[in-house]
Amino acid sequence: MAHRELLDRHRSVMPRWLALYYEQPIEMASAHGRRVTDREGRTYLDFFAGILTNAIGYDVAEISEAVRSQLDTGVLHSSTLYLITSQVELAEKIAALSGIPDAKVFFTNSGTEANETALMLATQYRRSEQVLALRNSYHGRAFATVAITGNRGWSASALSPIKVSWVHGGYRYRSPFRDLSDPDYIKACVADLREVIETTTAGDVACMIVEPIQGVGGFTTPPNGLFGEFKKVLDEYGILLVSDEVQTGWGRTGEHFWGIQAHDVVPDAITFAKGLGNGLAIGGVVARGDLMDCLGANSISTFGGNPVATTGALASLNYLLEHDLQANAAKLGSHLLDGLRSVAAAHPVVGDVRGKGLMIALEFVGPDGAPNPAAAAALLEETRERGLLVGKGGLYGNVIRLAPPMTLTQAEAEEALEILTQSIEAVAKEVQR
Ligand SMILES: Cc1ncc(COP(=O)(O)O)c(C=O)c1O
Repeated sequence: MAHRELLDRHRSVMPRWLALYYEQPIEMASAHGRRVTDREGRTYLDFFAGILTNAIGYDVAEISEAVRSQLDTGVLHSSTLYLITSQVELAEKIAALSGIPDAKVFFTNSGTEANETALMLATQYRRSEQVLALRNSYHGRAFATVAITGNRGWSASALSPIKVSWVHGGYRYRSPFRDLSDPDYIKACVADLREVIETTTAGDVACMIVEPIQGVGGFTTPPNGLFGEFKKVLDEYGILLVSDEVQTGWGRTGEHFWGIQAHDVVPDAITFAKGLGNGLAIGGVVARGDLMDCLGANSISTFGGNPVATTGALASLNYLLEHDLQANAAKLGSHLLDGLRSVAAAHPVVGDVRGKGLMIALEFVGPDGAPNPAAAAALLEETRERGLLVGKGGLYGNVIRLAPPMTLTQAEAEEALEILTQSIEAVAKEVQR
């Protein structure tokens, strides 16, 4: 009843385009570890973690205590007009972790603002408004970031301050090059990139922006090395490479700390948000010093990098590194991938199982291989019925996304596998009817 009443009030005052999950949406009332309890008292294992944002989980003492100690100072906010110890310390850590030479960091409140900042830096640095983006991408909700979002479902406006050209490569499963071997797929995408630059730009493009694994796009996972090969072409033209690590950062992909590292390349800038604050509003850009310093005017984010967010983020980052959550993501991620691949082999309604670390997707298809959004929607409900929260995405809304907190335990991974197996079986039966 509590949910029903709140839903009615929500619909009266919140925008129509603000989507809610589930036929009967829920509110999370309390949480601990990887489990959340809804307003009506039902507890779930959370495999979407506030869209990959509660990277460490809920109610983590080290993070709560750090935030509490900042609150106790009385300074919730000072603005960047004043020095902030936790901000400087966090920037030093991120700069060192980035692998970018002479790196500098600017903090924002979200991934959108982080990408807007990267675009402003690149376009000013190169004095060009031309940008390359990947089809099926998602980079945010403001004008420039919507413009580089290659997904009709998230393109709320066609207005744009930049001129964008679209490149193949991110979404292999439905790519015209899908049947090629890894090396040939990379070659075909590189040839496409070169042709796009030569036929749709004036050559002096500002940057290319990529998600190493597309998040909203359905955890699409291109072959390792693709973006390294892209960078060789970009370098011929002086085009900068920006890696959007809003979903792939902080070790979530298991094998690397940043998703782009699978491509053997150091980008000119990395954008981040989501997991860093474990729920606190923080994002940012880490970029080569000369790129970061290229602006010739003041630029400020009033709340960006505020003492509460940076203190909490510092505690989260320290926790993540001290507990080697990247290794946990690698171990449990490959266990989940193996388990799901064997379930999917028996159920053709799952056309593809992909991902890395704790970023795993199931793409649902019809008998002819066409996208099957109804099956994905049914799986969302089936898993919830059994006590598991998962995410949805993909260009056609037919992809289920699994991204639990990186503190996941082996027992929780088994529990989720069991629920997913039963739920896939239920959806497969439904489809056969
Ligand atoms: C890869 C990527 N970039 C940018 C964003 C935008 O981040 P925010 O919603 O914090 O503005 C998102 C959000 O889902 C994202 O997944």
